[in-house]
This record gives sequence, structure tokens and C-alpha cells, in this order.
Amino acid sequence: MSISLALPIPDAALEARLRARMEEVEKDLLGHVQSEAAFVTTAARHLMEAGGKRFRPLLVLLCAETGNADAEGVITAACVVELTHLASLYHDDVMDEAALRRGAESANARWDNHVAILTGDFLFSKSSELTAELGADAVRIQARTFSRLVEGQILETLGPEPGDDPLEHYLRVVAGKTGSLIATSALYGARFSGAPRDVEEALTQYGEKVGVAFQLSDDILDIASESEESGKTPGTDLREGVPTLPVLFAQRSTDPADARLLALLAGDLTEDALHAEALGLLRAHPAMAAARDYVLARATEAKELLTVLPEGPVRDALDAFADIVAQRTA
Ligand code: FPP
Ligand code: MG
Repeated sequence: MSISLALPIPDAALEARLRARMEEVEKDLLGHVQSEAAFVTTAARHLMEAGGKRFRPLLVLLCAETGNADAEGVITAACVVELTHLASLYHDDVMDEAALRRGAESANARWDNHVAILTGDFLFSKSSELTAELGADAVRIQARTFSRLVEGQILETLGPEPGDDPLEHYLRVVAGKTGSLIATSALYGARFSGAPRDVEEALTQYGEKVGVAFQLSDDILDIASESEESGKTPGTDLREGVPTLPVLFAQRSTDPADARLLALLAGDLTEDALHAEALGLLRAHPAMAAARDYVLARATEAKELLTVLPEGPVRDALDAFADIVAQRTA
């Protein structure tokens, strides 16, 4: 198996080590989704085999480079975060009624909502079982991460309460549904490699910020990508009526030239023609550049936390990781 890392690593030795460790993760993941019921294995493998960037396990491995990267538990922790993420995607696609994921049919489209939900549950149970191998602290961290994922997702579904600031609400959602698991990935890498406590704390905060930047980029891509290059159907958030950063920025406009866009954004965009019109106007709006700048600022904040680390290839790679996430195109 030849793994390509979702991150260019200029240091050849670090690259080779991460590749080899990611291959172990891939192999273990396949084993972890085995069920006694053949159909469950098929359904659980479906999205795993469809691809994915494996950002979360890669971050575990990279953060583990700040301590003893070969320590027991590092690979297990990398599998835990990918399985948790995978579980959440099965559920998320049901909630979004999404047809595509990772360039493949979503599980709900391929089978149905029941299969997708139960497969997500199966994957989450596998990730919990593995977490137990990492000890009681990890179980507590996993439970807390799960609560934050669910809270973020529910807050998104409910929308802001009257009187809430919509941007603040959105950022809370993003921190919960994505910042939480990426922060946990960084924390696990530091913790299970035995990195010093100040490094662990800085990397956890770094992960939270990178996670937020990752989701904000994802939301920008949902509007900006013209095709299904992201492996998902563009414009889903708009169709679902979920206002994301570019929409929230555009909605602050008092420019009369934006009247049509604002009227569209205030209405129902499930109809194809209205959806396409709103998407076109939004893509051309300065709110897109403002949103990209906002993400870059979050990535810069994340990188500032890395000063706790000595200069060298690991810090450079974590620095590049924040940049890649903020500037992603897929
Ligand atoms: C993707 O958001 C969704 C998440 C990052 C989190 C989803 C969390 C749950 C469904 C809670 C249940 C969790 C588990 C572990 C069973 P998105 O729809 O904005 O992104 P997308 O563009 O990738 O669909
Ligand atoms: Mg979704």
C-alpha cells in the first residue's frame, strides 16, 4: 500500500516515518471495522475505503513527534479519532440528506437512513472499545469530545436563539462539531507520546484553532467549489438554510446592490433556480474574501502557539498543517 500524506513534509526522515505509521493506521482501521455480520463490515468500510484525507490521525502522529512517537497507544489513538470522525460522517449525511461523500455515494443514498445511522453507531462503538485500551483518562476525553460534537451539531440544527449574535452562534457550532475532535487528536498525540504538559496544552489549543479553521474552510469551499471536486455536493449548506461565514458576512452588508442576495438568503433556497442564483451572487461577493481572511487569521493564531516547541522539522510540519487547512481547495 502506498500512502500519500495530505501534507507536504520537506524533511525526508519525518516524511518516511509518518508514511510508515500512517500505513499501520490504515491497516489497523480495516481490522477495527470488521463485524461478525458481513453486511455491517461492508457498510462500515464503505466510506473508509472511499478515501478521505485522514487529517485527524495524521495530526495525532505529527503531535506524537513532540515526544516518543513510537510509544504504545499512539497508533490506537490515531485509529480512535478517525473512527469517531467516520461515525459522525454517517450521521451527518443523514441529517444533511447528502448524496455524496468522499466522491462516493453517501451511506444513506447507497442504502438508507437506518443503515447509515446504525453503521455510524457501530463505528462509534468500535472507537469507544479502542479508547478503553487507552485508559480511563482517554475514555473521559472521548466522552467529552463526543458531547461537544453532538452539542455542536444540535446547536447548528436549532439555529441561534432570538437575541443571540449569529456569528458567535456559528463559531460555537464550529468549535463543537469540528474543533473538539481535532483538538482531541492533537491532545492524544502529545499525551500518548509523553510530551511535556506545557506542550500538550499548547498543542490542544492549536488543534482547536486548526479545527475551527478547517471547518470554516470547508464551509467556504461548500460555496466556492464549482464542481464536486471536494467529493461532496457544493451549495449544501445554502440549500439546507445553514448560514456559514460568507453568508454571515454578506448579511452585514447595507449596500443596496446586495438587496437581491439578501432577499434570497432570507428565503427558502431549496428550489434549484433560486439556489443557483444565490450561489452565483455569493461567489462574486466580497464576503468570500473576508471569510478567507478570517480563516487565515485563525491559522496564524494557531501557529503562534507552536512557539512552545523547539525549531525543527516537527514544528515546521505543524506550521504547514495549519496553512494547508486554512488554504485547502478540497
Ligand atoms: C460535518 O459538518 C459534521 C461534523 C464535523 C460533526 C457531525 C457530528 C455528529 C453527527 C454527532 C454524532 C457523532 C458521532 C461520533 C456518532 P458539515 O455537514 O458542515 O460538513 P460536510 O461538508 O463534511 O458535510
Ligand atoms: Mg454535512
